[in-house]
Amino acid sequence: MKVDFSTNVKKFIEEDIFQKYNSRKDEVFKKLDNDSMNGWMMPPIDYLDDIYRVRDRVKNNSKCLVVVGIGGSFLGAKAFYDLFTPYFKDSFKIIFAGTTLSSRYLSELIDYLKDVDFSLNVISKSGTTMETTITYSAIRKLMEEKYSIEELKERIIMTTDPVKGKLREEVNKVGYDSFVIPDNIGGRYSLLTAAHLLPLSFVLDIEELIKGYMEGLKLKEEAFLYAVTRRSLFDLGFVAENYVGYDEKWSSYLEWIKQLFGETEGKDGKGLLPVSMIHTRDLHSLGQFVQDGNKILFETFIKVDKTPSLIVNDKDLSEVNLLVEDAVIAAHVLGSVPCNILSIKEVNVEEVGKLSAFMCLAAAFSGFLFDINPFNQPGVEIYKQEVRNRLGQNNENK
Ligand code: PA5
Repeated sequence: MKVDFSTNVKKFIEEDIFQKYNSRKDEVFKKLDNDSMNGWMMPPIDYLDDIYRVRDRVKNNSKCLVVVGIGGSFLGAKAFYDLFTPYFKDSFKIIFAGTTLSSRYLSELIDYLKDVDFSLNVISKSGTTMETTITYSAIRKLMEEKYSIEELKERIIMTTDPVKGKLREEVNKVGYDSFVIPDNIGGRYSLLTAAHLLPLSFVLDIEELIKGYMEGLKLKEEAFLYAVTRRSLFDLGFVAENYVGYDEKWSSYLEWIKQLFGETEGKDGKGLLPVSMIHTRDLHSLGQFVQDGNKILFETFIKVDKTPSLIVNDKDLSEVNLLVEDAVIAAHVLGSVPCNILSIKEVNVEEVGKLSAFMCLAAAFSGFLFDINPFNQPGVEIYKQEVRNRLGQNNENK
């Protein structure tokens, strides 16, 4: 993985602003080392045999796995699933549910599942998140109609807190297979926990992911430099960061990045607004704004050096796509839009694992450079409280 934060960015940043943040490196590194929520920097991975055992059973008795969850403890699995499964060929089907209260979606899903043999992985660290709970209840009702109690035990898998919460209570009572999101790892930093590794074990080599992620954790200096660059640009009025991918397959991954940064640093009236675009599609829409509109954003391009070769009109399309990416960066820089470039050799699990650990480090460092706690999300609670008030509920549900 290569990172380029200077060629198309440094000229926008005055040296004194850059140094103001760059000089905080020791303090920021120490803060991360001492934080009680830094478990994602040394995640336990001694349960892979259990993952494979459950995966093999589900593959044997089910045509698809329904994964229910929302937010950080869930988005990474969808990101990798979408990126690493083919566009058109079939692969093991995973349905990611729980991110909406749409009655249309849920009733259509239940209808669809009536005729499909499936298993269910409910993922919630707290075990009380509203969207997850409602979706689980609806699917569970169908499962109770379809399967015996013994079959339910074979088909329901919980991923939750090691000791607390309603899901853990249910596991203790019924004896479902269960996995843990450790206490010292928050949802959006849980890529290397069973919340993500179990669903991903169906479609990719999770040991490659672990290998890449652990390599990526070594990129502390680079991640800090990226955080310093972002923080400096914010001071110069670039208050939004646009993440750009050059293949629709990156879409969910960019959603994961947006959630990681948005929930990490958007606090106390501070933080960058993370947005994303897929090129070249969005060059014909928001591209106009980026090139020529209000100068509130800078960009971070995910560049892939090698993609499958395809000759169209005597030219290799993979090279044309890269040429366009370089041209767009040049044009945007001319339009006063600073452009970072994160390059990976190719779209393989190890490389993207590395990129992901790099992003987690950069998000945490960015939080510390904004002088906020990178690992909480107090703002998310406010809408939940409002919902509870309107539903006339007490504080029992998250
Ligand atoms: O990143 C986070 O911590 C959050 O986005 C949570 O993952 C999200 O709110 C879901 O929480 P839970 O896993 O408790 O259901």
